[in-house]
Amino acid sequence: MQSALPAGQSAKEAATASTRDGFTTRLGVIAATLGSAVGLGNIWKFPFMTGENGGAAFVVVYILATLFVGLPVMISEHVIGRRARTDAIGSLRKLAPRTPWWLVGAAGVAAAFLIMAFYTEVAGWVFAYIVKAIVSLFQGAAGELASTDPAATSQVFGNLAANPWLSLILQWVVLAWVAAIILAGVSKGIERMTKRLLPLLFVLLVIVGIRSLTLPGAGEGLRFLFQPDFSAITGAAVLAALGLAFFKLSVGMGTMITYGSYFREDQNIPATGARVMLADLAVSMLAGIAIFPAVFAFGFAPEAGPSLLFITIPAVFSSMPLGAFFMVLFFILTAVAATGAMISLAEVPVAFLNERLGWSRRNATLVTVLLLAIVGSSAALSQGVLAEFKLFGMTMFDLFDFSTSNILLPVGGFFILLFVGWRWAYPELKQALSNDGALQNERTIRFFWTVTKFVSPVLVFVVLLDGLGLLSKILALFGGGA
Ligand code: TRP
Repeated sequence: MQSALPAGQSAKEAATASTRDGFTTRLGVIAATLGSAVGLGNIWKFPFMTGENGGAAFVVVYILATLFVGLPVMISEHVIGRRARTDAIGSLRKLAPRTPWWLVGAAGVAAAFLIMAFYTEVAGWVFAYIVKAIVSLFQGAAGELASTDPAATSQVFGNLAANPWLSLILQWVVLAWVAAIILAGVSKGIERMTKRLLPLLFVLLVIVGIRSLTLPGAGEGLRFLFQPDFSAITGAAVLAALGLAFFKLSVGMGTMITYGSYFREDQNIPATGARVMLADLAVSMLAGIAIFPAVFAFGFAPEAGPSLLFITIPAVFSSMPLGAFFMVLFFILTAVAATGAMISLAEVPVAFLNERLGWSRRNATLVTVLLLAIVGSSAALSQGVLAEFKLFGMTMFDLFDFSTSNILLPVGGFFILLFVGWRWAYPELKQALSNDGALQNERTIRFFWTVTKFVSPVLVFVVLLDGLGLLSKILALFGGGA
């Protein structure tokens, strides 16, 4: 499935074909992986979570989580996929027959579905803002988004997110868009286009970042983003940073196993992972630099939550030359990045129904989208009529977000780490990661192995327990402090 797969062909068909399709260039691999990684996670989630969790200290924890957990999980998934050359469930079954490891892949199907349930709503807001930005372009200073006033831009977003029918329709439009891409068998083409447009998004973020940095009062935003104050960091914030690291790199649910299954034998897996991670981090930091100076310059609340991007970015564009034009471009490129990520997410349940249950791709896609419209509606209405409808103290939107990033992905990642660190013997890992000895990267492999075996799983375990408030309870059982 995903990028490397010819239209309409299932991974099973591809796997059994004598010449299995794969990425033809090594650079193509990086681009495809980036196409899945870069998305609303960078532009929308990273800034709002950083704002909610007090700024730089959260960023530091997030970067550490990316280095010591996200990257090792990505490398693990890629190497599992290339070894087994099939999807997540099939790969784990093949490498560990008659054991329950494949459950990691099955949990991944659930995670992908639940992520889509709220991701499609955020993408819907982006679609709506494309329209708003275009309208603003023609209305000039009278446009709805032509304002640097927090009250005004917050009102625009609030009206949108609280409107029940509009919220539902936006989500349906996004779902129809994703389904159309999958059904038309053009996922591959769209992903190729996404990859081409990502550099443009990067350049635009640099431009917006420069504008934001030159706003009067920008310094405070930079301090917020780069001067850590660790006193404010809680266990829940550390878990949130870890969850973001998983979400950002699209790891912890086996998506990257499928990508790895299309890697060439001469692909340098650790180097590929490192490059993807750095590029992805760069996009997130740029988004932060575009947003936080403006937050402080215009008096927005950094802890505004999921609305942060939508209320602050119009203020930045309103205060720059050709701003209205750049704003249209910005939301279009954000929608493109979101589409690449959504295709990689939606493919997971679709491929599951198609390959594991033998449904046609058409039926698999239609059922997935229909279920998403039903389940996702509870997330779409969370900012409005269902704002008071809560489970575990969270709206459905927050619950889908929390349960995937803070539970399912870390748990999935934990088992993927155990699989590579403990189930594989070192010589086997070395052979796989050195491309049968072709690469002279023994030191890198040793380092990766040590981290994967002893560091990352322990970190995930402790952060997960602590973040969920279980650690203090367990310590108390043993008569410990806390
Ligand atoms: N990484 C994407 C983003 O940050 C979201 C995403 C796409 C994802 N595929 C995934 C997250 C698989 C977890 C797992 O926008």
